[in-house]
Amino acid sequence: MRNSSSFRIAPSLLSADFARLGEEVKSVIAAGADWIHFDVMDNHYVPNLTFGPMVCEALRKHAVTADGARVPIDVHLMVKPVDALAQAFARAGADLVSFHPDASAHVDRTLQLIKAEGCQAGLVFNPAAPLDVLEWVLGEDCDKLDLILLMSVNPGFGGQSFILSTLRKLERVRRLIEQSGRDIRLEVDGGIKTDNIRAAADAGADTFVAGSAIFGQPDYKGVIDAMRARLAA
Ligand code: DX5
Ligand code: ZN
Repeated sequence: MRNSSSFRIAPSLLSADFARLGEEVKSVIAAGADWIHFDVMDNHYVPNLTFGPMVCEALRKHAVTADGARVPIDVHLMVKPVDALAQAFARAGADLVSFHPDASAHVDRTLQLIKAEGCQAGLVFNPAAPLDVLEWVLGEDCDKLDLILLMSVNPGFGGQSFILSTLRKLERVRRLIEQSGRDIRLEVDGGIKTDNIRAAADAGADTFVAGSAIFGQPDYKGVIDAMRARLAA
């Protein structure tokens, strides 16, 4: 059963100040971020270019709480091909590595590779992408999947509007996770704000990426607190 203590808020560094990334990571963790969402774009799978494993490695030491607890780095790969970069990010300190199945020639192999590196593995679905691959990775003999990420915008840019049909898709994936009996997180990414986070949670999401909603405001803690209040209400 999901309750507010199982919800995770994952600010996306895509909307942070790239000239001050280390400070931004520290500030957003001090403001209450549960995970750091790290959007990797290759100007091939998506029409934009961000950062690579060396930047992840440089930020790893900043992704800790004031008590020294590790804050998970949630790497969202929007790259094609996937495997070499998935491995490089695992070795650069990522805790979770997610990829788009349509960008990998061999989805099961890529999942295995991420798990073999000691990371949690996730699959990401674009707004119009079918979910049929889930039938084969949620099976009883398959324990390679830790996270399902549904895109609620088309990948490539921050600051876009939430695509409403994602709510129905979240409901469907939540049912599939429940039927599988597995402990798999359901993350939603794109256009999440204080005023729609609750609808996404009601549809089944337990992990929420928010870029512009958090980094676009001066008071990160104010936004994260307001999101948690909506989730708890
Ligand atoms: C889009 C990225 C998202 C994006 C979210 O390709 O995967 O993580 O940064 O940004 P907002 O919250 O501004 O839609
Ligand atoms: Zn993302």
